[in-house]
Amino acid sequence: MLSQKLQDALNEQMKNEFFSAYLYKAMAAWFESEDLPGFAHWMRLQTLEELCHGEKFFNFICEAGGRAILLPIDGPQTDYESPLAVFEYSLKHEQFVTDRINQLMTLAKQENNHAAEIFLQWFVTEQVEEEASFGLELKKLKRLGSDGRGLLMLDRELSQRTFMPPTGMNITGA
Ligand code: FEO
Repeated sequence: MLSQKLQDALNEQMKNEFFSAYLYKAMAAWFESEDLPGFAHWMRLQTLEELCHGEKFFNFICEAGGRAILLPIDGPQTDYESPLAVFEYSLKHEQFVTDRINQLMTLAKQENNHAAEIFLQWFVTEQVEEEASFGLELKKLKRLGSDGRGLLMLDRELSQRTFMPPTGMNITGA
């Protein structure tokens, strides 16, 4: 069972995850327009990760006997000054998501909802990885500065990113 308060907070976070997918897709589009296909590929895969995160919330809310509500999603920022600006923005966004997950965990603990705590634990760990992943690319971009050749090399490196849906991911509900 979910309290109304916890259900509302879980639905809000489901929206944040789907917004993240929308944001990273917008960044992929920007990289495509800048002729940086490796960066665009990296962001396309990040979009898929976020869709899986949103799906996880959807599944948990339904399985816990709650009602999944798809809230309106704002339009993401579509234009950026540079690849560095994209990753600075992304890291800030991930820090925002981490903060929201931590707040959700606090609420689950206050309500003694152990199932929600166990569910959210996956996201606590995931957010450490998310911030590390964006932070690493941001560091590389800072090191590059205005080195155009280095940027193309990083573009090639990012084109190698692969994607595996989280284990046990059920996207059909069957
Ligand atoms: Fe779903 Fe990147 O946090």
